[in-house]
Amino acid sequence: MRLLVTGGAGFIGSTFARSILSREDATEVLVLDALTYAGNLENLEPVARRPGFEFLRADIRDAQAVRESFQLFRPDVVVHFAAESHVDRSILSPTDCVATNTQGTAVLLEAARQYPPRLFVHVSTDEVYGSIDAPGVADEASPLRPSSPYSASKAGSDLLALAYAETFSLPVIVTRASNNYGPYQFPEKLIPLMIANALDDVPLPVYGDGMQVRDWLHVEDHCRAITVLIEQGRPGEIYNVGGNCPLPNIEVVRRILRLCDRPEALIEHVPDRPAHDRRYALTSAKLQAESEWRPAWQFDEGLRETIRWYRRNPGWVERVRSGEYLRYYNRNYSGRGAAMAR
Ligand code: NAD
Ligand code: DAU
Repeated sequence: MRLLVTGGAGFIGSTFARSILSREDATEVLVLDALTYAGNLENLEPVARRPGFEFLRADIRDAQAVRESFQLFRPDVVVHFAAESHVDRSILSPTDCVATNTQGTAVLLEAARQYPPRLFVHVSTDEVYGSIDAPGVADEASPLRPSSPYSASKAGSDLLALAYAETFSLPVIVTRASNNYGPYQFPEKLIPLMIANALDDVPLPVYGDGMQVRDWLHVEDHCRAITVLIEQGRPGEIYNVGGNCPLPNIEVVRRILRLCDRPEALIEHVPDRPAHDRRYALTSAKLQAESEWRPAWQFDEGLRETIRWYRRNPGWVERVRSGEYLRYYNRNYSGRGAAMAR
């Protein structure tokens, strides 16, 4: 199988690429990534020398580069992770988010129309459903009510992907996952930021009252769901992927402090995020009815392992925070350019 993985140097995309390349079969993987602040080739170091791994630094907004990558690599399957993925950044810079998440997805879909893969997996988010009042849960037919520029840009990309399935018979699957956590997550998202701050003994900034609820999904469970859908998913369909672990943020932060052996006095309530969704909740009943997939990680165990990883990798945190990881790219890859695509 020839797999094109966009955003494969980021948190979820690199977990997916490492997992696929660690398997025995003869999968060839081309990671296409612009290496923004969130993309780090160090994340792919464990598989970088495996036969079948290739990397192309390219921007999904660049129609020519994307078209050429499809033309040269001819993927059987595309898994599209690349995105501006942080809600707070999308509030600071909405148009960057629209340009990558919506327009960039349109560029990829156009290339896929010209060089059709067997399957195009568009990786999306439960945030497109907006805040869900308790005790409700969103299923795949729930209305789209995005409230941030990030979630609106993702909702736009979902609709485009589904429109390409209808209009051009492109075999598209849209996945909508809940909040991921695990190793290699950039320390701007709740869990890695709180771990990093706790380990540094600096305040942990909790937005508002901290009673916002998120459903936590281990990144490996998310990636396994995508693998299952590549094998068994029905083109044209949307699949929710949830962790079945709803928790208020303040509870997550308290557990992190306990596991890091730090006092709750480090918690600092700060002004709330604008338009902050109060509660995300979704059902993965459809995916579970059509496959054997279930979330395998228990949250407390996953959190303990994640903290262990951050404790063991302070250098990684330092390098991604300082942007120094780009030196790694320049040392190992720069100058080889598009030739790496084949
Ligand atoms: P991330 O921010 O860690 O990684 C994003 C990757 O995309 C980076 O490697 C970055 O360099 C790359 N990228 C950004 N803009 C690009 C561009 N214009 N061209 C090419 N590459 C570009 O994100 P993540 O958390 O791994 O999320 C991956 C996908 O999963 C996103 O589409 C996100 O919407 C979705 N998602 C994330 C979560 C979560 O909790 N993190 C949950 C559900 C869905
Ligand atoms: O639900 C899936 C989404 O989860 C993904 O689509 C996004 O890509 C991903 O970033 C994530 O979005 P959130 O906004 O939920 O994640 P974040 O980690 O930024 O915030 C989680 C919760 O924690 C949210 O309610 C805001 C709160 N928070 C976050 C940060 C960074 C804080 O209270 N303090 C913080 O410093």
